Parts: sequence; C-alpha cells; structure tokens
Amino acid sequence: MTNNPDSLQALSARFPGHFLWGVASSAFQIEGAASADGKGPSIWDEFCRQPGATADGSDGQVACDHYNRLESDLDLIAALGVQAYRFSISWPRIQPAGSGAINSRGLAFYDRLVDGLLARHIQPFATLYHWDLPAALQREHNGWADRDTAHRFAEYAGLVARHLGDRVRSFATHNEPWVTATIGHELGHFAPGVKNRAVAMQVSHHCLLSHGLAAQAIRAARVDLDVGIVVNLSPVSAATEAAADELQAAREDGLLVRWYLDALLRGGYPADVLEYLAADAPNVRAEDARLIAQPLDFLGVNYYHPVVSTVNRPFSPARTNAAAVTDMGWEVAPAKLTELLLRIDRNYELPPLFITENGAAYRDTVVDGKINDEDRRAYIESHVSAIADAIEHDVDVRGYFVWSLLDNFEWALGYSKRFGLYYVDYPTQARTLKHSGCWYRNLTTAFHRLAYGGEAAAGSSKPA
Ligand code: FCB
Repeated sequence: MTNNPDSLQALSARFPGHFLWGVASSAFQIEGAASADGKGPSIWDEFCRQPGATADGSDGQVACDHYNRLESDLDLIAALGVQAYRFSISWPRIQPAGSGAINSRGLAFYDRLVDGLLARHIQPFATLYHWDLPAALQREHNGWADRDTAHRFAEYAGLVARHLGDRVRSFATHNEPWVTATIGHELGHFAPGVKNRAVAMQVSHHCLLSHGLAAQAIRAARVDLDVGIVVNLSPVSAATEAAADELQAAREDGLLVRWYLDALLRGGYPADVLEYLAADAPNVRAEDARLIAQPLDFLGVNYYHPVVSTVNRPFSPARTNAAAVTDMGWEVAPAKLTELLLRIDRNYELPPLFITENGAAYRDTVVDGKINDEDRRAYIESHVSAIADAIEHDVDVRGYFVWSLLDNFEWALGYSKRFGLYYVDYPTQARTLKHSGCWYRNLTTAFHRLAYGGEAAAGSSKPA
C-alpha cells in the first residue's frame, strides 16, 4: 500500500515544484582513507584510539571506503533519483595541520566528487565542518576553545570556496555546533572528549564566531554563493508538570534551540541562558554578536527526535514507555517536527529552511539478499508528511535530505547503528538498496513525474 503509486503521488503532490529531494553523509563517517594522499589526522582519528571511546572499538580508518569507491557510490546516489547530495569536506584533507597551503591531492578528491555529482545532474550541498577538526589544532592550539581556531576556519572556508565555488553553490559552515560544544566538550562522549561546561560554552561561542567569519570569507571569495549553517533542533517539553521539570525544559530549550537561533538570527545570546550559565558563560567581545549574525541564505535543520526534560535525567533524548523508539532509543515523533518548524517560523525571521538530516537507525536483517526495513521507511514517510504539514502552514522548507546514504560510522557507537538507505556489508563493502531506499526512489520518481511531466529517470534534474 505504501508503495502504491497513488499514495506516493499524493504525498509528492504536497511539495512545491522547486522542492529538492536529497540524501546526506559526512566525510569522517564514510570516507575512510584516513591517511591517504597527504590527509592529516583529525580529532576523531585520535579519539578513536582511546580505549572505550567507541562502543565496538572501531574507528574511521576504512569506514565505507567511500574515498576509493567514489564513482560507484555516486551511481548509488543517482539511482535514488535525488536532485541534491549533502556531504562534508574533511578539513584535514585540505589543510593537514589546520592552516597553511592546500593539500592539492585532498582537494582533488572533492573536485572528483563535485564533478561527478554535476555530471549526474545532482546539486552539491557542501558542509565545511562535520566534527573532524585537524588534530594539530587540538594538540597545539586547544582546538575550538581557542579563538584563533575561528580565524583558521575562516581561512579554510575561503580556500574551499575559491576552489569549489565555481561548481558548488551551497556552503554550510558547521554541522550541529551544539554537538561539537556539548557532546564534545561538556559530556565528553565525542572528540575531543573534554568534560567542562565553561569550556563547552566557549567552544560554542567560537564555533558561532567561526561561522560568521567563514560566511564573510566565503562571500569574499564569490558573491553568488549561498551560505548557511546546520543546527540540530528538537522541541523540548517537561516530563511532568513539576516546576523543577518545567524549569529544566526551559533551560534545555534555551541551550539547544534559543542559544543558537538567537545568536544567528537576533544578534545576541538569550539573557535567561546567560544568567543560568553564570560563571560558565563564554567570553564574548563587543564585535562578536554582529559577526555571528551574518545574513543567512538558508538554515539547515537536523531533526531526529523530541526532547522530554526532567531534572532527574538532564539532557537525555526523549523516551517514554508508550512511545515507539528507534535503535538509538530516540522517540519517533513526526508531529513534533511540524510543531518545531511552526514554532521557529513564528519566533524568528527565518531564511529558507532545508531539513538537512532526518532518518532512523534500526536493526537491519538481510534475508535472501533483501533488507525489508519497513520501520525505517515508515519513519521517513511520516517525517516527509510532517514537513508537508509545515509547508501547508506557510513554512518555507526548500528541501529534505535523508540521513543517510549508506550505513556508516555512527561516532561513539561505531558501526553498530545503521541509518543507511543502502545496507553496507562491512567485510566486503557490498552495498544493497534497502526497502526504504526503494520507497524513497519511488517518491522522488513520483515527484519528478508530477513536477516535470513524466521526465522521471533516476538522477534526472529539474530545470534551473
Ligand atoms: C547527527 C549527525 C550525523 C549522524 C546523525 C545520526 O547528529 O550530524 O553525523 O550521526 O546524527
């Protein structure tokens, strides 16, 4: 029923003709080739060497071997019928020690990637930082805790924009700066594994500052580029009506949502959050607020699950006994995505939005060479429909990227969690399209038929 052409057509008809369907990945999670062609180590290469850092003791040395399988992986992207591919650029491939001259062999990989996408009529959406900081910047300069890293990032962003800007129109500076700051520097579950709230908030400020400086550098490189940032947002609610839980929810919303959106879109951090942080609030210079709030051509929103707050278990993803959860333990709540989009649309002057990540991990089993991941397919369908609901309420969402193209390295959880539309058999690196991927291809095909009158071959693009 779900693959029924009528229901696919009805769903795709809820999106405007200019809507972009895409799929997403990130460098460290798929590329492997950790020291190939002059690439320097990243903080994740080093973090993975610490005992117990990843659940399965794994690392990103090989990952999906995407670096060496680029052409055939590009064919897999095209076979989904998507018009857009979101990928990230590995800073230590471009500048092995985080500053100075370009490593041209590293850059050549992204030339091949971008050219390969364009040859297949797929628009490249590049993200400049998806957590793989050059390790030298951490070791010698204290990483994002040091203000200089923001300037180095802007230099790197300018270099990349000058080189790829003739073919890549869309550049996101950071992916999920909340994760860099809070999971990397307060909770310490992710690289570089620091556990200090004051450091985390300074890191957050430097990431936002680096976004602003990078936006200026990208625009100085070329005036015709679209510059944005990708944030992870969740609607936050209190677990109970107890005042302590309500207060915790307001704080978590402040730190996760308003801290970032206020700085980016209103030119300042929320006063209640600064007050709550007290001595842990970051050092901020007078000019910083203006630097951070550069005009945005788009805002990327990554959504996976809502957050239910309680003082007893601060900052843990929502989990109620009644709710369906994914293999990450994340509550499946598509209506909360609509709620989130309506709320930020109401409260901020938003640029056009892209849902830059959404998807689900489930335990896949291969039966007779097939992966019948109905749970993942249903997750994606319900969230696509939730986005259509938001669009019908006049929220300007321009595109949707499924996380992820391939099963891949899920950070501290290693290879134990599978998010891909393609199943990866790691020992052989064979890729198999899952039932969810098949459904997604049918959706993009139905959309193309409707929007462009029957011209629906996989990989075909919309007219400019
Ligand atoms: C997001 C990350 C992405 C992936 C998904 C599951 O927070 O941006 O790399 O790990 O979660």
